[in-house]
Amino acid sequence: MSPAHTSRPCFYHCSFFVLCFLSSLSGIQSHELQILMKLKSALQVSNTNVFKSWEATTSPCNFTGIACNSVGSVSEIELSHHNLTGILPLDSICQLQSLAKLSLGFNLLHGPVMEDLKNCAKLEYLDLGNNFFSGAVPDISSLSQLRYLYLNNSGFSGNFPWKSLQNMTGLVRLSLGDNPFDHSPIPTEVVQLTKLDWLYLSNCNIQGTIPTGIGSLKGLIDLELSDNNMTGEIPAEIGNLINLWQLVLYNNSFTGKLPVGLRNLTKLEIFDASMNYLEGDLSELRFLNNLTSLQLFENNLSGQVPAELGEFKKLLNLSLYSNSLTGPLPQKLGSRAQFNFIDVSDNFLNGPIPPDMCKQGTMMRLLMLDNNFTGEIPATYANCSTLIRFRVNQNLLSGTVPSGIWGLPNLNIIDITSNNIEGPITSDIMNAKALGQLFVGNNRLSGELPTEISGATSLMSIQLNDNQFSGKIPPSIGDLKQLYVLRLQNNKFSGSIPETLGSCDSIMVINIANNSLSGQIPSSLGFLPRLFSLDLSSNKLSDRIPQSFSSFARDPLLNLSYNRLTGPIPQALTYLAGDGKFDGNAGLCLLDISAGLPSCENPYILPLLIHIQCLPLDY
Ligand SMILES: *[C@@H]1O[C@H](CO)[C@@H](O)[C@H](O)[C@H]1NC(C)=O
Ligand SMILES: *[C@@H]1O[C@H](CO)[C@@H](O)[C@H](O)[C@H]1NC(C)=O
Ligand SMILES: *[C@@H]1O[C@H](CO)[C@@H](O)[C@H](O)[C@H]1NC(C)=O
Ligand SMILES: *[C@@H]1O[C@H](CO)[C@@H](O)[C@H](O)[C@H]1NC(C)=O
Ligand SMILES: *[C@@H]1O[C@H](CO)[C@@H](O)[C@H](O)[C@H]1NC(C)=O
Ligand SMILES: *[C@@H]1O[C@H](CO)[C@@H](O)[C@H](O)[C@H]1NC(C)=O
Ligand SMILES: *[C@@H]1O[C@H](CO)[C@@H](O)[C@H](O)[C@H]1NC(C)=O
Ligand SMILES: *[C@@H]1O[C@H](CO)[C@@H](O)[C@H](O)[C@H]1NC(C)=O
Ligand SMILES: *[C@@H]1O[C@H](CO)[C@@H](O)[C@H](O)[C@H]1NC(C)=O
Ligand SMILES: *[C@@H]1O[C@H](CO)[C@@H](O)[C@H](O)[C@H]1NC(C)=O
Ligand SMILES: *[C@@H]1O[C@H](CO)[C@@H](O)[C@H](O)[C@H]1NC(C)=O
Ligand SMILES: *[C@@H]1O[C@H](CO)[C@@H](O)[C@H](O)[C@H]1NC(C)=O
Repeated sequence: MSPAHTSRPCFYHCSFFVLCFLSSLSGIQSHELQILMKLKSALQVSNTNVFKSWEATTSPCNFTGIACNSVGSVSEIELSHHNLTGILPLDSICQLQSLAKLSLGFNLLHGPVMEDLKNCAKLEYLDLGNNFFSGAVPDISSLSQLRYLYLNNSGFSGNFPWKSLQNMTGLVRLSLGDNPFDHSPIPTEVVQLTKLDWLYLSNCNIQGTIPTGIGSLKGLIDLELSDNNMTGEIPAEIGNLINLWQLVLYNNSFTGKLPVGLRNLTKLEIFDASMNYLEGDLSELRFLNNLTSLQLFENNLSGQVPAELGEFKKLLNLSLYSNSLTGPLPQKLGSRAQFNFIDVSDNFLNGPIPPDMCKQGTMMRLLMLDNNFTGEIPATYANCSTLIRFRVNQNLLSGTVPSGIWGLPNLNIIDITSNNIEGPITSDIMNAKALGQLFVGNNRLSGELPTEISGATSLMSIQLNDNQFSGKIPPSIGDLKQLYVLRLQNNKFSGSIPETLGSCDSIMVINIANNSLSGQIPSSLGFLPRLFSLDLSSNKLSDRIPQSFSSFARDPLLNLSYNRLTGPIPQALTYLAGDGKFDGNAGLCLLDISAGLPSCENPYILPLLIHIQCLPLDY
């Protein structure tokens, strides 16, 4: 090649090449190339290189995301998950005569979906889901070859063209959920799609009842109707859908019982009918031993939890809270599976806590609050290191807490409030590195608060009120820099309030009322920047109110009543005196003359000595 030749202007060189290339394609292929170049220029890409190969010098069949049929005509556009933005040029795309798959899900496409979609008559697979379109879905009745239709979560509104489904007899997947369509019942067109295996109509304003015709969709493996406003009973015909793997009906207004026939759905793994008005018992579930997740919370279900659930080998998650269930739980519950989660709170359950839910070492959440469970917390949970929530408050539990539980390394919350539990909090707590909330109030716990509590460095709220704890409040508590609530009231703590409490910089609420604390109030408490509620009432605290307490003038939730405090009330706090916040301290006096308390200046009530000492403090 001569140097002159290579230095020829590129545009001439290139367009010459393109011309040659185009002329080597058939007429159809060059037309299709133009269509795809139009598509490329209509859509912008952010941070992906998907169109890099889309050059006019290449065969469209070699473009990323494009596939052709045997005669070299474009049959597939697969450009999902590419952050594509722009308005879809369906007028040109639907000129692709062989297009059978158009997959554009999970992009950022916007604007309307044009009527031209009807020209894509060969489509078998259409995915426009998970975009930001607007306006209604156009008539698509000509797309009678469709097998997969995904329009979910894509911003569509208006009336869905249900009639268009009439001749889509081969439809296998229909996914329209998460769009604000106009209100509509499930139309007959849907229950006539007998090939369906997937019907996703959640959160798209479906109302009315589940048609009994649903029973003809025998191929369904997934039926999702959640977050609508559907009413009536779950029809017995659901029992015909023996291939169901997932049935999701939560957050509707369904009434009545779990239908007889549900027992036939032995392949069912996920069943969620939470947040409805269902009643009756759970006996239909006894046969569903393929269940992995069962969620029926916030209904009015009653009767006992069937013993069979204890034998289910795959059950991982069980959420039945806020119903009217009674009786004991199956004692083998969770023992056979890699159990993860139980929430049976707010029922009328009794009997013992099933001991083996963490048997396989996978359990994360144990929520059984507000029932009538009895017996002890099973020792088996003491090494359940996966546990992140443990809440059994408001029950009738007794005995001691197995000491390992205090130190579980991933636990965020221990809540045993309002039971009859006794014994100490053990030094194991130093291992509770994730523990944010320690709620043990209103039990019969006793012993000293271990100094090792400072090892639980994530602690934000400690509520030990209404127990029989005794001994000193450990000074190490000052190491808890995240602590914002400390409630120790109604116990038998003695000794002095540790000065170090003033190092808990995050603390907002301290209640140590009704203990046997003595000595001086540490002035450090007055310097805590966020403290707005401090109750030290009904102790044996003596000496003066620290001058630093003047800071409480801003946040008047201060109670120092019924102690042995003496001397003047800091000037800034005198206005609180009328509220009884200093009552029951015979030695306190006011510098200002005011009702309720003796004046420091009255030599007849208080010794002159105190009066003189007041002066340098406040002036
Ligand atoms: C398409 O790619 C194949 C191999 O990847 C290559 O052999 C062929 O030449 C390419 N065709 C065109 C027209 O670019
Ligand atoms: C799409 O954009 C997001 C956020 O900018 C990015 O994290 C993601 O990797 C992008 N996806 C692709 C396929 O490039
Ligand atoms: C929603 O659409 C996407 C494709 O955009 C699909 O992969 C997904 O399965 C659909 N979701 C449901 C629940 O049908
Ligand atoms: C379905 O097909 C029948 C028979 O071909 C036709 O009469 C009807 O109009 C079609 N329905 C729709 C919605 O296109
Ligand atoms: C229940 O569904 C309605 C739509 O019918 C929705 O607005 C609401 O947020 C859903 N409630 C919950 C708790 O998800
Ligand atoms: C649900 O439907 C009932 C009537 O069937 C209606 O009274 C109620 O307002 C609807 N609720 C919502 C959230 O649309
Ligand atoms: C459940 O299955 C049994 C036996 O397979 C059948 O006789 C019965 O009709 C089915 N029930 C329903 C409601 O489909
Ligand atoms: C559980 O499901 C599998 C397949 O999904 C099925 O073979 C099995 O029979 C089901 N178990 C029961 C007890 O029906
Ligand atoms: C069980 O619940 C956990 C936590 O809520 C969740 O991450 C997991 O996906 C659920 N598993 C099943 C099978 O539903
Ligand atoms: C719940 O069911 C019980 C009977 O099991 C009934 O007495 C009660 O009224 C129901 N509560 C509601 C809110 O429907
Ligand atoms: C606990 O049992 C008592 C006495 O039987 C009963 O009055 C109360 O309603 C029960 N509470 C719960 C939450 O089950
Ligand atoms: C707890 O300890 C028991 C007995 O040592 C053991 O069988 C079990 O597997 C342990 N569980 C966990 C979650 O480590």
